[in-house]
Amino acid sequence: MPSRRSIWRAVQVSGVLIAGALALAACGADKPMSTLDTHGTHAENILALLTPIAWAALAVFVVVEGILVYAIWKFRARKNDAMPAQIHGNTTIEIAWTIAPALIVLVIAVLTFRTQAVNSRMDPTALRIQAVGHQWWFEFKYPDQSIVTSGDLYIPVGRDVTVQLDGVDVIHNFWIPKLAGKTYMIPGNTNYLSFKATNEGVYRGQCAEFCGEAHALMRFRVIAVQPDVFDRWIAAHTSTPAAASTQPYAGPEAFPNTQEKYVPHMPAFPQGAYTGVGTGGVASNGYTVFEKKCAVCHMINDNPKAKGVTGPNLTYLGDRTTLAAGLLPNNSGNLYSWLYDPSMIKPGNIMGGTVKPGYLTDQEIKDLIAYLEGQKTNIPLPQAR
Ligand code: CUA
Repeated sequence: MPSRRSIWRAVQVSGVLIAGALALAACGADKPMSTLDTHGTHAENILALLTPIAWAALAVFVVVEGILVYAIWKFRARKNDAMPAQIHGNTTIEIAWTIAPALIVLVIAVLTFRTQAVNSRMDPTALRIQAVGHQWWFEFKYPDQSIVTSGDLYIPVGRDVTVQLDGVDVIHNFWIPKLAGKTYMIPGNTNYLSFKATNEGVYRGQCAEFCGEAHALMRFRVIAVQPDVFDRWIAAHTSTPAAASTQPYAGPEAFPNTQEKYVPHMPAFPQGAYTGVGTGGVASNGYTVFEKKCAVCHMINDNPKAKGVTGPNLTYLGDRTTLAAGLLPNNSGNLYSWLYDPSMIKPGNIMGGTVKPGYLTDQEIKDLIAYLEGQKTNIPLPQAR
């Protein structure tokens, strides 16, 4: 029989563990990645499934552990106890505690299938977006508007969006905790995710599948704005006739709900087809540096030599909330650090293979910052969620 002291010891250890768990749970005080604070239909449906299951699980836990603790206490060994009767079991109870969990699991299954069915519905009039996972950044394409961007995904509030999810290298996973649940981006196997943002805001997104050494640094933001603001954003990106009239999409994948062919896997934009407009800076030194040192991998819409598709399209980089795929706040200091030594910030990234300290001179970096930061639409951002 345990001594009084060892019982007291167990109580103390349990208290410390519970306090520790509570302290850790409070880590995300502003909860930017909480699935319990939903602002989009897909995430709301998941939460509506999670909530009753969590309560039911709690009830099961309390009943089972309650009976267990009661039995341990009530039938504990006492001094001079005789050997208890040895029995094989109780058939009635065993049948009952097999059927009861099976029924509970059945109910959970039905609720889950229902939520899956609701969440996989795609509105044929939804805004169509393609998201492509790269090691380690997200690329976003708007096939009907001829827009390619990265890092920040703009969507209108109150309108369904359907995101075609593709990968080019390894498996990634597209997750916006407050808007939509995780969905895989699998090279060669396209998935779709439909949701509607119900509140405007800047939302965190994160790759949710281990995809290499910088997996944890593979993030993005979803910027959900009012429809008129979204239209301004679209207009800014498509304000040249060449960009607006070019629809060079053809690929093996028919988009669901339409017969139209949709963006195939990378690269979707043929060379020279994309001549949108950036904001000035064409005559600047940074423009020239960009042509010489960055254009092989990166695209800028108004720069005829910058047609690379290995790295992100950098048009309107000045608008973006973050640099390096959601990793750093977008400001000159961080941009300087990134351009000086990207591997220091995101080990293993492709750009770091070429851009090492010294690849760009101090002056070139400053010229590039002036050019890239000048790429702005000045469309106001909603609040961070
Ligand atoms: Cu991409 Cu993890």
